[in-house]
Amino acid sequence: MKIKTEKHKFIIESMSPALKLIGSGRSAVVCKMEETDKVLKVFPTGYEHIAREEASVYQQLKGCSLFPKMYAFGTNYLVLDYIPGVTLYDCLMKGIPFTKKHIQEADQAFAYAKQQGLNPADVHLRNIILTPTGMVKVIDVARFRQTKHDQQWEDIKRILDSVYFKKYTPKKIPRFILEGIAALYKSRLTQRWLDRWHHRTN
Ligand SMILES: Nc1ncnc2c1ncn2[C@@H]1O[C@H](COP(=O)(O)OP(=O)(O)O)[C@@H](O)[C@H]1O
Ligand SMILES: [Mg+2]
Repeated sequence: MKIKTEKHKFIIESMSPALKLIGSGRSAVVCKMEETDKVLKVFPTGYEHIAREEASVYQQLKGCSLFPKMYAFGTNYLVLDYIPGVTLYDCLMKGIPFTKKHIQEADQAFAYAKQQGLNPADVHLRNIILTPTGMVKVIDVARFRQTKHDQQWEDIKRILDSVYFKKYTPKKIPRFILEGIAALYKSRLTQRWLDRWHHRTN
């Protein structure tokens, strides 16, 4: 598999027919390996340090079933368990309901990571999968050794508590609203307002 990067976009130049593209994120492309229950997470040239970092984090997390198992890794790839299901972000978009219990399960995964001396960062709804059996798995642990404190997950939980988990909130939320919230969240003005909010409530 060959990946080219162009203006923050990944372009797949060639791919084995035994692979099926199932997702991509900030740093890699993820393919299901046909006739197996494993995925190949491939990092483009220049992102090898993230592959190395994520592999070493997975080694630290082995033994916890809330994360996919890592079977192998190389300079620019990882082989992981395929997690069937839908990311919590797609759940919001498709109207597949999830509950507080699922969020608490994800929190158990982060607590486990913390016990291992890690500092979960880059935690958001696209990195959590709800499986068809109602289980939660946290994928994408590349930024779990970040030293900087990341407030994002706490903020996501507050928004879910104050809006989504309310009885009358519709469980299907259009993409433009979700992206609007994400864009607002990234804006400096909102960050200043959130800082004040954290200050007030902590
Ligand atoms: N083990 C997995 N099983 C099933 N889908 C996965 C798996 N890992 C990643 N994905 C899908 O691929 C997307 C990108 O993967 P992710 O690990 O978050 O990459 P990045 O590090 O680039 O953000 C995820 O949002 C998810 O939809
Ligand atoms: Mg991701």
